[in-house]
Amino acid sequence: MRILSIESSCDDSALAYTDGNNAKLLWHEKISQEDSHSCYGGVVPELASRLFARDLVQLLNNFKQKFSFSNISYIVVTNEPGLSTSLLEGVMMAKALSLSLKIPLLGINHLKGHIYSLFIESYKEIFPLCVLLVSGGHTMLIECYSYNDMRVVANTLDDSFGECYDKAAKMLGLGYPGGMIIDSLAKQALSENIAPVALPIPLINQNMQCFSFSGLKNAFRLQLEKMALKNLIQDSQLYDKNEYVNRIKNSIEAKALALGLQESATTHLIHKCKFYMKQNDHIKHFAIVGGASANSMLREKIQILTAQFHKTLLMSELRYCSDNAAMIGRAAIGKIRHENAMNTYKQINYGQLDSKKNTLPLNKIWHDKDTESKNFASNLSNSYAMQKLDTINLHTISHAHANSNDRNNQYNPLSLQISPRNTEIKTTS
Ligand code: KG4
Ligand code: ZN
Repeated sequence: MRILSIESSCDDSALAYTDGNNAKLLWHEKISQEDSHSCYGGVVPELASRLFARDLVQLLNNFKQKFSFSNISYIVVTNEPGLSTSLLEGVMMAKALSLSLKIPLLGINHLKGHIYSLFIESYKEIFPLCVLLVSGGHTMLIECYSYNDMRVVANTLDDSFGECYDKAAKMLGLGYPGGMIIDSLAKQALSENIAPVALPIPLINQNMQCFSFSGLKNAFRLQLEKMALKNLIQDSQLYDKNEYVNRIKNSIEAKALALGLQESATTHLIHKCKFYMKQNDHIKHFAIVGGASANSMLREKIQILTAQFHKTLLMSELRYCSDNAAMIGRAAIGKIRHENAMNTYKQINYGQLDSKKNTLPLNKIWHDKDTESKNFASNLSNSYAMQKLDTINLHTISHAHANSNDRNNQYNPLSLQISPRNTEIKTTS
């Protein structure tokens, strides 16, 4: 069983090929859009969408040079949550591939993908597990009991951890994404013994199981306004880009401020994880995942905390923290295994396209008691990607793919049921 997985939820185009029988990662590649969005201080959805339309086809071309389409057993794609204009690019390519190759299509929740990044290259899954998921869009504590039983036990009230770093870097005029930039400024401050600027620790006196970063982001801005550094930022247009970045990176104030943010933000995360651990002794494994779990201070502090509470700590490898398709392929193995164990659906023949409606009846795709797969499959039958794609070649795929940009009546993005906050993860109070 071989799985071709596609990730396009935000600003990274990624494809991976995984052996589903042993979870071996056979190939993976990613094209980041960071440089294109950097000057805007965040992801520009329309630009992202156009870059996906180009880069995903490039990656598929790379795949085709190494492997044959005929060995693929499943097409797997991130279908939520994320930027809808980004998600639909990957989903359109996945649909085109699935229909042309006549192989099943699975939708994978991006957050579950991050959780499964812990198990890339390992067939074993470790549950129950409590996960701190920190990314550009999410900050959550999730109790995971199985692929299908994941419960959000803490969420952010406002911004996410990664977003706070992104906004801080934007305020310093350092572009996007900000996580690595602020992290490395903070590390420099530590190595040069620069004292941090004192910033408040969010919700420190509140016995609430949740996170908050917008107040900290604002405190960062207020401190910045009091500094001489503000003048350099205001005059940024006077310098060429590299010179400006070097000036900021050599500024003691910028390093002190970055360290202040790093200390407050990570102390807040650790404080809330500790609050959770004190009250919940039943889960022995703890993990951090997501793009922002690459943060150096968070990685150090979480090791100390988990040792104190006698938890086993799992962390994704640094190269799998940020968005990638390998984690989506690995999550698909979890999903297929779970569904097989539950026997909730059986794949049957595709049958013929209904020539009048140009759609496939749902039951020709899945015998399905699983609502998630059912919704996804029915969306698939609604899409004009169902139009005849009898012969598979890159041209047809890129054509179908490019059409997804047309935004015409034939394709309704809403039918994908994509919503940034709509995760399939169950919430408990
Ligand atoms: O998971 P990811 O690649 O994309 C989303 O699903 O959002 O996470 C990207 C986020 C960005 O906000 C980025 O600034 C942040 O992760 N990030 C970091 C670090 N590296 C990346 N945040 C803090 N410290 C880092 N070292
Ligand atoms: Zn992510």
